Amino acid sequence: MSENVTSGLSRRDFLTAAAVTVAAGAIGAPSILHGAVKHQLPKLPFAENALEPVISAKTISFHYGKHHKAYIDNLNKLIAKTEYADMSLENIIKATAGKSDKAGIFNNAAQVWNHTFYWNCLSPKGGGRPTGKLQTALNASFGDCEKFMADFANAAITQFGSGWAWLVKDGKNLKIVKTSNAETPLTQGVTPLLTIDVWEHAYYLDYQNKRADYVAAVIKKLMNWKFAEDHM
Ligand SMILES: [Fe+2]
Repeated sequence: MSENVTSGLSRRDFLTAAAVTVAAGAIGAPSILHGAVKHQLPKLPFAENALEPVISAKTISFHYGKHHKAYIDNLNKLIAKTEYADMSLENIIKATAGKSDKAGIFNNAAQVWNHTFYWNCLSPKGGGRPTGKLQTALNASFGDCEKFMADFANAAITQFGSGWAWLVKDGKNLKIVKTSNAETPLTQGVTPLLTIDVWEHAYYLDYQNKRADYVAAVIKKLMNWKFAEDHM
């Protein structure tokens, strides 16, 4: 198979998009100005209707164009003229994690990162079964891929309230973790490989309260196993 045709973004591209801040008007702009660095909404790695019928264009339109964009806009407002104004996204997340007086900045920064990661975990050519070294690693950590997919779905379904289910690499092992609200495994010393957004805004227009149906469909038909493998 050709190189990473399904993900839209390679690992390096994703890390660049997610972690590197973009100086406003970088070409020729006086980037030394405090607050001149702006985070930007990354391009979706697929067309808004490309995930139908599993996720509708309407859901993507609101989720990406309204929710994800709002996190970006809020972050840029909150960090302007602060010590975080010139930091990369990942550094902002790590610097504000666990600080109650910085919760607004953390929540928006982490949600920017989580959503950019989530889009890359979905692909219109995704789904099916993991292959290659991801399959080998899943077999080693969970017994087999079916067990992993069942456990991953269960984690996503049972996350109480808003949050995320993740496959992460912790040393040599792969693990499933759940996070609430904007919390992200980035702050836990592990490498995120996959995620499913289980905030209601991710599925309510298409599935209403049937989160389990959304989770099952995403894993079966959209999960970008190649993207996860590229992160290992
Ligand atoms: Fe979301």
